[in-house]
Amino acid sequence: MTTSAALDTTPAWALLADHAAAMASADLTALFAAEPARLETMVLDVGEICVDLSKQAASAETLAGLAALAKTAAFDDWRTRLFAGAVVNPSEGRAATHIAERGSGAAADVAAAAPGQAKLRAVADAVRGDGTRHVVHIGIGGSALGPALLLDALGHAGEGPGGHTGDGPAVHVVANIDGIALSRALAACDPAATKIVIVSKTFSTLETMTNANSALDWLAAHGVADPRGRCIAVTAAPGRARDFGIGEANILPFADTVGGRYSLWSAVGLPLAIRCGVAAFDDLLAGAAAVDAHFQHTPFARNLPALAGALDVWAATFMGKATRSVFAYDERLRLLPSFLQQLEMESNGKRVDRDGHPVAYPTAAITWGGTGTDAQHAVFQLLHQGTHSDPVEFVAVREPGHDLGATHHRQLLGNAFAQGAALLRGRTFDEALAMTGGDEAIARARSFPGNRPSTTILLDRLDPRALGSLLAFYEHRTFTAAVLLGINPFDQWGVELGKEMASALDAGGNFDPSTEGLIARAGL
Ligand code: F6P
Repeated sequence: MTTSAALDTTPAWALLADHAAAMASADLTALFAAEPARLETMVLDVGEICVDLSKQAASAETLAGLAALAKTAAFDDWRTRLFAGAVVNPSEGRAATHIAERGSGAAADVAAAAPGQAKLRAVADAVRGDGTRHVVHIGIGGSALGPALLLDALGHAGEGPGGHTGDGPAVHVVANIDGIALSRALAACDPAATKIVIVSKTFSTLETMTNANSALDWLAAHGVADPRGRCIAVTAAPGRARDFGIGEANILPFADTVGGRYSLWSAVGLPLAIRCGVAAFDDLLAGAAAVDAHFQHTPFARNLPALAGALDVWAATFMGKATRSVFAYDERLRLLPSFLQQLEMESNGKRVDRDGHPVAYPTAAITWGGTGTDAQHAVFQLLHQGTHSDPVEFVAVREPGHDLGATHHRQLLGNAFAQGAALLRGRTFDEALAMTGGDEAIARARSFPGNRPSTTILLDRLDPRALGSLLAFYEHRTFTAAVLLGINPFDQWGVELGKEMASALDAGGNFDPSTEGLIARAGL
C-alpha cells in the first residue's frame, strides 16, 4: 500500500511551511494585481457549480507548493485506489464504495450496488402509491444528516426550478434519543397512514433502535395490528433487521464499504425518492457522477475538489487556521453546515496518520456556520473584527426558489458577495477617522483589518442534479485534504469511547467525582 509516512519531513512540506510564514503577512488585494491569471486559475466550474477560490490567502506559489505536496502524498495513486475500489480505509481494511452508488468507480462495485439501488426505487414508488401520507425516518449521524439536508433543500413543494419538488408523502427525520424529537414527529403523523423507515448502517445504534422501538409502540398503541409490517429497514446489516422482525421485501441493503456520512447516495437517500420521486433521486446521482468524472480525470491544477481540499489543508495545517465557517445564502441549504460538520470533522478530525503514527500538525479545521443573511446579524462581528482570521465560505444559488419578486434574491446574493468583499477589503483607520470626525478611539473601533480569506460557491439553480454535484464536490474535497494530510478519512474511532462510557454509566460504573456528582443530581 502507498504509505504516508512522515509527510511533514518531506521537502514539499518544508517548502510550504516556509512559504506559509511569508504568506502570513501577504496582502490579498495586492495578489489580484500581482497575478493577472488569478481569476482564471482560482475560479473554476464543474457542472452547475462555480467555485471562486481567488479570495483565499494563497498565491500562485502556494498552489504550486500544494501541487508538489499532492505529488509527494501520492494523490494520484490514492485517487486511483478510490476509483478502483481498493482499500482506502486501512484501519477497517475496507474500500470506500459510495461512488459506486452513483455509477462511478469499479465496475464490480457498481454491479454490487445495483440491486440495492433497484430495490430502493421500487420501494419508493410503492410508498408513493400506497396511500402512505407520512414517513418517519429514524436514523442518526450519516443516517440522518444527509437525508434531512436533501429533504429540506428539495422537498418543499414548488420551491425547485419549475416547481418540480416535494409532491410525495411528508417525511419527518428523527435522530436524537431525546424523546422530544420523536414525539414532535409523531404528533404530525396519522398512525393509520404512517410508515417508519429505520436507517442504520449497523442496525444497532442506541439512539436509532430506541426511537424505532418507541415508534413501533406508538403504532401499536394506535391500533395498528402489525407495526413491524409498516417498517422499512435501510442497513448494511440485513441480518439484524431480519432479527428485528422486518420482512425481506422491506429491507434495503447497502454495502459496509459505504460510510455513514457518505451514504445518502445509497438507500439511505430513500426519503428523497419517496418525497420527490425516483427521477429526482436519479438526477441527484447524475449530478454527483458528473463531479466524480471531473475529479477522477482532471489534472490537479484544474481539479476543483482537489484544489479546494488542498487549500483547506493550506489554511488549517500550514496557516494555522483553527476553524472554517460555511454560510448558506439560501434558506434551502440551511442544513448544509451541519451536514458538512460531520463530513469534514468525522472524516478528517484525526490525530494519527493512516499508518497509525501520531501526526505533528493540525488536521481538519473546526467546521461551523449558519445561514445568511441571519448570521450577519449574529456572528459576523467576530469574522470582521475579532482576533481570529479564519476562512469563511459563502454558498449561494443564482436562481431563487420563490416567486416573491426580485428584491429578496437580489439583496440575498448582494449581501453574500458584499460580505466576502468586506472581509477582503476592510476599512483603514484613516477611513474610519474621516467618518468619525477625528475621534481616534471610535475610529479604532470602527476600523476593519480586512485581508480576511473567503471562498464563494455559486450554483446556477438548486435542483437535485446541482445538489448532487455540490455534495460530491465536498466529499472529494474532504478526501483530497485527507490524502495531503496522510490520514484516513473513512474511519471514526473517536466516537467510540463516549458510546462505551454511556453504556458503562447505564450499567452503574464508577466515574470521576464531577461526573458522579452529576449522576447523583440527575437521579440516574
Ligand atoms: O457514532 C458515529 C456513527 O457511527 C456515524 O459515523 C454514523 O453515521 C452514525 O454513527 C450512525 O451509525 P448507524 O448508521 O450505524 O446507525
